[in-house]
Order: sequence, then C-alpha cells, then structure tokens
Amino acid sequence: MKTQYDILVIGGGPAGYTAAIHATRKEGSAHSIALVEARQLGGTCLNRGCIPTKTLVETAHYLDLFAEAAQRGIDWQGTAVLNPTKANQYKDRIVKRMTAGIGVLLRENGVPVMNATAELDYTEGGEYPFIARLTAPDGSELSPIQAKKVILAAGSTPTRIPLPGLNHPDLAGRILTSDEMLDAEMTPEFLRQNIPAQLAILGGGVIGIEMARIYRSFGSEIHLIEALPRLVPNLDAEISEALAKSLKARKIKVLLGKTLEWVNPSEVGLELIFKDGETITASHLLIAVGRSPRTDALSENLKSRLKMDRRGFVLTDEWMKTTVPDLYAVGDLNGKCLLAHAAMEMGRIAAMQALEDLDPERESFGEEEATESALEEYRRRIMERENDSPLPDLVKDFFPFYVPSCIYGDPEAASIGWTEAEAKERLGDAVQVGRFPFAANGRASASGHRDGFVKVIRLKDYESIVGVHIVGPGASELINEASAIMYAGGNVEQWAASIHAHPTYGEALMEAAADSFGHAIHLPPRKISDH
Ligand code: NAI
Repeated sequence: MKTQYDILVIGGGPAGYTAAIHATRKEGSAHSIALVEARQLGGTCLNRGCIPTKTLVETAHYLDLFAEAAQRGIDWQGTAVLNPTKANQYKDRIVKRMTAGIGVLLRENGVPVMNATAELDYTEGGEYPFIARLTAPDGSELSPIQAKKVILAAGSTPTRIPLPGLNHPDLAGRILTSDEMLDAEMTPEFLRQNIPAQLAILGGGVIGIEMARIYRSFGSEIHLIEALPRLVPNLDAEISEALAKSLKARKIKVLLGKTLEWVNPSEVGLELIFKDGETITASHLLIAVGRSPRTDALSENLKSRLKMDRRGFVLTDEWMKTTVPDLYAVGDLNGKCLLAHAAMEMGRIAAMQALEDLDPERESFGEEEATESALEEYRRRIMERENDSPLPDLVKDFFPFYVPSCIYGDPEAASIGWTEAEAKERLGDAVQVGRFPFAANGRASASGHRDGFVKVIRLKDYESIVGVHIVGPGASELINEASAIMYAGGNVEQWAASIHAHPTYGEALMEAAADSFGHAIHLPPRKISDH
C-alpha cells in the first residue's frame, strides 16, 4: 500500500466520502487520494443518524396507517403489533446495504480506504507536511500515511451533559443518546428487543421530535422536555407551534421552559427532578441536546494551531480552509451546519479547493471554476436574474442560509432561508409573507393529512425569496422545490406563475408564493402593498 498521498481524507461520512469522490472525478486531476475511516463507512448519517431514523419513521408510519384504516372505510379486525427485534433487524439491513454501497463507490472511483483510527500531526515545510499514524480496529499499528493536503471530516458525537445522577450505576442502560437508539453496534440488548415503556427525551430539537414521533407510534409513553420556551427554537416560531400542537395531539407530553436538575434511580427506572420542583418518572432517558465536534484525530500540536470556537468546532473560511495551511475541515466538525446534505456540499468545496491548491498554476478544472464557492456561485446566479436585489449582499454565508432542513415528525416540517423573525430583524417592514394552508389543498384533503401550511417570505419591492417554511404532508420533499428555485436564482413571481400538477401537495407552494402578492386562487383575495 502507498504511504504518500496528495490528499488524505479523514472520515468516511457524507462530507468525507463526497470530498474523496469529487477529488478523483475532477477532469484533469491526476492526484492520489486516500480515505481513512475508523468504523463503518457512511458516518453518523448512514450508521446512527438519517438512514436508521428514517427507516424507523417509515415503520412508525405503517403502524399509524393500521390505526387510521378504519376511518377510511377499511374493516379490519386484526391488531398491528410491532416486533422490536425484527424492526431493528430490518433497519440494520437497510444500513448495511447502504454502507456497503459507499465502499463500492469509493473503490470504483479508485480511492483506497484504510479501516483505522488516525492521529494527525503536522510539521511545517516539506512536500508532505502531514503525517497520519494509523491504528487498526484490532489495535495493531499500520504504516503511517504522509499527505500534502488533509481534508478533515471527523464529524460529531451526541453532546453529553454533566447532570448529577447520570452516572449512578443503577441507571446503566437507561440513559441513552441517539447512538444507542440507532447504531446496530451500540444498541443495548434490552432496546434491540423491547420498546421503552416510558421514554423521557431531554431536548426538544430535531432528534427529540423525531424520536418522540417514532416511539409514540411504537407504543412508548413520551415526555419531551425542552429548556427553552419553544421546540426547535431556531425554527420559524409558527412551525414550532404547529409541531408542538401535533405532538400533543398524539398524546406526547411536551414540557417547555424546563430545567432538569438531577436524576435518581426509581422503581420504574428513573426519576427526573426539575428546577421548579416538578418530578416525573420514566423507564429510559434519551439525551438529545445537540452534538459536539470530534477532534480526537488531531495531535495536541495541531489543536494548538487551529482556531476553534468555544464549543470546539474547527473554524474555517467559506472554502473550508482552517487556520493551518493545507488543512480543510468539512461537515459537522466545522459547526457551520450539522446536516448531511450540507456536509456533502462542504466536501465538494474542500475537494475543489484542495485540487486548486495542489495545482495553483492551473486556472480551472474542466468547465467549472475550481474556487467558486457555493455562495459565490449563488450570488452570480441571483445577480444575473435580479441586478438590483439586495439579497446577495445581505446573505454573508451559504451555510446555513441556502441549506434546507427537515424534521421527520408527523406532520413533517422543512425550512430554508431566514425565519420570519430573522427576516424582520434584518429587513424590518421590507418583507412580505405569503401563506397557504394544506386544508385548502385538494391532495391534502384526499389523503386526510390536512394539518399544516406553507409560508413564503420575500423581499418587498423585489421578488427575491428569503425564506420558505413548511409544516405538513411531504414537507421534506416539497422543500427541495424551494431550494431549487432559490439556487437557480428564480423569484417568487415566476414561482407563483409556474404550473403545478393538480392535485399535488406542491400546489400549496405555488399558492403561498401567489399569496405573497394577495393572488392565491384558493384563498379569499387580499390587498398587499409592496411599498
Ligand atoms: P438540536 O440542536 O436540534 O436540539 C437540541 C435541543 O435541546 C435544543 O432545542 C436545545 O434548546 C435543547 N437543550 C439543550 N440543553 C438542554 C437541557 N439541558 N435541557 C433541555 N433541553 C436542552 O440538537 P439535536 O436534536 O440533538 O440534533 C443534533 C443535530 O443533528 C442537529 O444539528 C440536527 O440538525 C441534526 N439532525 C438532523 C436531522 C434531520 O435533518 N432530519 C435529524 C436529527 C438530527
């Protein structure tokens, strides 16, 4: 095996494997690229994040359909009973197939993959300033790798909080993170075979809501506990409210503005004691209060040279360059946006940048300008469309503004751009909001999923889209339409005028865009002043 590479990628999640593939595929690139991954390829997304959760969400949806069948006129005398062992095995088979697929992709793109834990060090000067010492899963040392450039894509882990009582020996196996709930290799035996009777979830963010949605359908009693006054506080306030309402309708107990002070063992498992004196009991506690960066691949020498934020995320510029020359940080590790699809885009940008840095003489690789960042590309597109719109200047960073985000609750929620509050904070009265409820959408009525709405936020005087927020059926698919039109430099007027197939949920987007001018056909007319 070679021991010197032009580009070494550390981490085989969405950021890392995408960076490696982009680097090899770029026309005219004759560089050597390798990837090191300590565990399974696919990272958090495939092994203990997006894919296993969405598999379980779908299983929960099947259970919901059985429950709803009677109201649609299906006489059915059976009882749908979840078999947790089989549901977990099904999820694990999906994950295994997908992680194997990433291995095939990397092989077919000619990227050697080393299954090892890397410790990265750096010595200034010389052709290969980086050295990665590798330890195989069995503890044996592999030959170290030297590299000219390193793309760090080591990801993040669930944040653990120092709460009194959490380490009590009687609570072993009862305190969980998403890792234990989802990862085939980390799930305790009890959870592989059983559903927690009473699941308390600390953190009313994305993971908290998705887990509440899944385990409620599976039959757990759920308490969802959020420290701040509303769920997913970074979402548009109306979306948070709609999500809280939908969770309560499913008999999930939502506790807002609650500070958990300590936990004790109790008869049913554990007792949670809050600052205000209230107590609740639960069989298990899932901690979902955010994620922390993984910097354990970095030597102390490297850590001391890197600029990090106060939580330890490795800071980079918009080309993913860190403060150490030739070292790029992508994905969760840089804290710009902790989402798999954002990670993939960061992987692309870092790969293009690293290639250009290897060949500074070369102006571009193929047709694309190697250094054009996602934001620059977007700015160029929107400027071509709307020369006088101030939007490109208002948006300073591609991440997270142009990155859609989704919550797979029931109903789903999805967003892109600024919330209404953020838009008003930046632009005051210069924003115009259009709304359309799914209750007025034909497909939603037919499907029986009429809860929710679409909200389109645009700049007054211009048609630039500054935010789109959806709660309702198919939101996670619908948001891609908003992303595509924003990325292509399209505007709200064109969006409202475009023909959408009927009956589809997507018509609600077109109607919300039209409502921002007061023209939605399936709503009463309203007067809008654009000045
Ligand atoms: P999050 O940042 O979405 O939510 C954490 C929540 O916990 C926040 O609402 C916060 O106010 C609350 N919190 C913090 N400390 C607390 C405490 N001591 N007591 C009660 N509440 C407390 O983080 P989460 O849900 O852990 O997800 C981690 C990351 O994974 C996020 O960046 C998320 O976007 C990503 N993710 C994305 C998914 C998707 O795209 N569908 C699915 C799941 C996770």
